[in-house]
Amino acid sequence: MKILITGGAGFLGSYLCEKYVNDGHVVYALDNLMNGNLNNIRILLHKKNFKFLHDDIRRDELYQKLPTDLDAILHLAAQIHVDRSVVNPAETFKINVEGTLKVLEFARMNDVKKVLYASTSEVYGTAKYTPMNENHPLLASHPYGVSKIAADRLCYTYNETYDLGVDIIRCFNLFGPRQKDTGYGGVIAIFINRVLQNKPPIIYGDGTQTRDYMYVRDAVIAYDKVLMSDNNPGRNGINFGSGTEISINEIAELVIKYAAQKDMKIIYVEPRPIEVQRLFADISMARKLLGFKPQFDFRKGLSTLVDWYTNYKSELWMY
Ligand SMILES: NC(=O)c1ccc[n+]([C@@H]2O[C@H](COP(=O)([O-])OP(=O)(O)OC[C@H]3O[C@@H](n4cnc5c(N)ncnc54)[C@H](O)[C@@H]3O)[C@@H](O)[C@H]2O)c1
Repeated sequence: MKILITGGAGFLGSYLCEKYVNDGHVVYALDNLMNGNLNNIRILLHKKNFKFLHDDIRRDELYQKLPTDLDAILHLAAQIHVDRSVVNPAETFKINVEGTLKVLEFARMNDVKKVLYASTSEVYGTAKYTPMNENHPLLASHPYGVSKIAADRLCYTYNETYDLGVDIIRCFNLFGPRQKDTGYGGVIAIFINRVLQNKPPIIYGDGTQTRDYMYVRDAVIAYDKVLMSDNNPGRNGINFGSGTEISINEIAELVIKYAAQKDMKIIYVEPRPIEVQRLFADISMARKLLGFKPQFDFRKGLSTLVDWYTNYKSELWMY
């Protein structure tokens, strides 16, 4: 297959590039490097079946130079930081919504058979009930989440109006090596970085807020199952998560334990009003339609990550 991965130098994108290059497909990774890093894909750069395009999904000229015979587009490029989206909502909407519109239009014009869109559990906002299935109302309230709702629904519109066959993938929180320790989603990376510098984790609120953290390699399995499926299982959105709900307190305690800092005391500060309180995925649709079952245990993934931060952080492509 000939596959375009937008956001290919980012955290999740780099793992997907690696998978499809190693499987022998021809992979084009597109990234403007605003949050990505060439080091994430350094081991792929010399491969014959890999090409990196340093460009921006907002730029019309980009679409003149893309191959017109793509079999699939995995559209991950996005401004992912909630705080940045609050400071500059226009930028986030231009990238996440208008950028997605341009990618979809390109796919429509060129009859691309498979388009996978990286939506997110953030579209749901704080859980009204758990576990959260795909029918949970879309209640995101911060600009990042709302931009992802808009793009998610835009994909649905392309399915309904043009029968494009986009799969809308709603992963819950991801974690793993290469994730940056800035922003909002990367709480695990932020905790580890602090603890390894002998600084205690800082928790906003009482730490009882929960997340559903899936190891990044399970997300690769999820994307691959969707890509290889003929049935457009994510036509109206499909959840992928770890199957377990974990509190921020538990995460902080485990990081302290794995980093062998047992006397360290967590710092609690005022809660952030925009923060989602509870997230936990119902993944029964993915299980039923795709046989999806998370492979990576949270605690094992976390201890691997602490090891990566301690020993390999400068070699981003490791693991
Ligand atoms: N990390 C998570 O927990 C998570 C969970 C669910 C969904 N997602 C979604 O998965 C996707 C990838 O997330 P990630 O965590 O790997 O983030 P990331 O920031 O590492 O990857 C996004 C990439 O897109 C690139 N990019 C941003 N704007 C661009 C533009 N205008 N043109 C070209 N490239 C651009 C960035 O440089 C970056 O490399 C995002 O769409 C995100 O919303 C992430």
